[in-house]
Formats: sequence, structure tokens, C-alpha cells
Amino acid sequence: MKNPDLQSITVAELKIGMYVILPLAWDEHPFLKNHFLIQSEKEINKIKELGTKGIQIDLSKSRPVETPSAGEPQASSASGQQKPEQRVVTEKLVTAIHDKSLLPENKARIVRQHSITMMKSLLENPTAQNIKEAKKGISEMVSLILTDDATMHYLLDITSHDFYTYTYSVGVGVLGIALAKSLFKGSTNHDMRALGVGFFLHDVGKILIDQSIITKPGKLTAEEMQEMRRHPSLGYRLLQETRQLTEEAKIIVLQHHERVDGAGYPKGLRGGEIHLYGRLCSIADVYDALTSDRPYRKKLPPFAALKIMKDEMINHFQRDLFQAFVLMFKAPALLSPL
Ligand SMILES: [Fe+2]
Repeated sequence: MKNPDLQSITVAELKIGMYVILPLAWDEHPFLKNHFLIQSEKEINKIKELGTKGIQIDLSKSRPVETPSAGEPQASSASGQQKPEQRVVTEKLVTAIHDKSLLPENKARIVRQHSITMMKSLLENPTAQNIKEAKKGISEMVSLILTDDATMHYLLDITSHDFYTYTYSVGVGVLGIALAKSLFKGSTNHDMRALGVGFFLHDVGKILIDQSIITKPGKLTAEEMQEMRRHPSLGYRLLQETRQLTEEAKIIVLQHHERVDGAGYPKGLRGGEIHLYGRLCSIADVYDALTSDRPYRKKLPPFAALKIMKDEMINHFQRDLFQAFVLMFKAPALLSPL
């Protein structure tokens, strides 16, 4: 079976942060191994000199890709180097979205990685100005998903490999917008861009929670769980202060852990008491969590995740919304009986 983490790209598309697999024997290249993480432009140039046309990269071992222009500092949260402005990070995403030379599969992968970098940068410093900048990138992501079905399907196929808040943000953002697209097609009653911002920022409150709780490799204690459950309200409050989001987008942040059977938090709202957008986001959020790696369990394949949602959690969700979600993954076997 084809490994979904392996992607074929051209040498011209190589970027720092990609984990590359050279289709060459050990004596046909100058590197220690034929598979490694690209860390410099120099390595890219050496690969180009080999004259190999098609190359594979392993997404599960790649980092979010940076494409610094001349003289521009590279993003690095750990090294203490100067970070690029939010504007620069967002511009890279917008440039990739409008790059007509990229095939849908490659565009999905590159756009996703730039989105992750954008959300990482934003969540490290969620000021009003930075949210304003990121909104431009999210708005372009919404346009891409609304107008480019091929790239959207590849975006839906890529599941997460880590449990960082910024990776979830992109996963839930893409899933939420795609679900809204399938439900609201042709309707002018929904501001898809505002909705998209809400989906991308749904977990922003986590930056105000003790990070040792967020990244704890194991079950949370009752006390830690109580603390974790504050993130929707904290996120809502933070966004109110920045005055950058519509009320409907902020409701997504506040209600994405509410469940239609009343089992959610922070308020334990039921059914129609939860805003429609909150009900949408809860489905995307649970699916993205199940299909992402966690410190204590491996990610599930899409079908298995959808099956668990149907068999064990269906009362948490509005059924017709869940059906629309399942249809996006072309898994009709899960549709009946609900
Ligand atoms: Fe959350």
C-alpha cells in the first residue's frame, strides 16, 4: 500500500525543512545518508547538481517549510534568532496559494505548511495587528477551498503528525471551511471568511493555559482537566480584547467543545442552544484530534476515526451535519443507519 507520507516533488520545489529521500545509491551522492532533513540552501544546491529529476520527501519527518528571501531572517522559536514579522509569514502563504505552477497535490502540501508556520507565528504573539495580518492569509485559504476542489481534497487527505496547537488550528480550519462549503453552497447568508477565521483560531485560548498541561503525555488529572476546560472562555475573552473578529467567529472559539447532548463545556449547552458554527466546529475538532498523533496514542486513519465518531460519539453531534461531514470523505458505508 502506498505510504501517504511520501510525496514526489521536483528538485525545483525543494525547501529547507523537507525530509528528502534521494533515489540514489550511497556512492552516487555526497551525503552521509540518502535520506535526511534539508537544513541549508547549500544542501539544496548539492542535490540540484546531482541531476535527479524526481525526488521523494517524507512529510511525517519534515518540518513546516520556510522560504526566506535574501537577507530575511528565518523563523526559529528555539534558537533566539529574530522572528519574521507576521506580515512576512502571511505573505508567503498568500504567494503559495496564488502560485499557478504548483500541481494541486504539491500546492496542498506547501500551503498547509505555510499555514502552520503562519498560525505558529500568530499563536506565539496574538496581538490585534498580528491577527489582522493572519486574517488576510486565512481569507485567501477560504477562497482556495471554495474555488479549488482538487487542492481542497488533497488538503483534507493530509492528517496531522503532531499535537501542537498551531497544527490543529490548520487542520480544523481546513475541515471546518470545507464542511461549511458543502453545507452553505450557493447561500449568501454566511460570511465564509469570518467563519474561516473562527475555525483557524478556535484553540487560541490554549496559549493562556499552562503548557505542561497542553503537552502532558498522558491522562490529565481532574484539576488539570478543569484548567484545560478554560481555554474556550479564555480564547473568547482574548479575541474580544483584540476587536478583530466578528461575534459569530468568536462564538466558534467559545462553543467548539459544547456537544448537542449537553455533555460538553464550558456551559453544557444543548442542541440549538449551541450556535450552528459551534456545532460545525465540534465535528471538525473531534475528527482532527482522532486523526492526529498524540503522545499517548497513534493517529487513526480517516475511516476508523469517522467510525468511532459514529459508533461511540454520535449523540455529541447534530446528525445531519455529521452526515455531510462523512460525505466529504466519500465514506457512504458509514451513513446508514445513523
Ligand atoms: Fe479546543
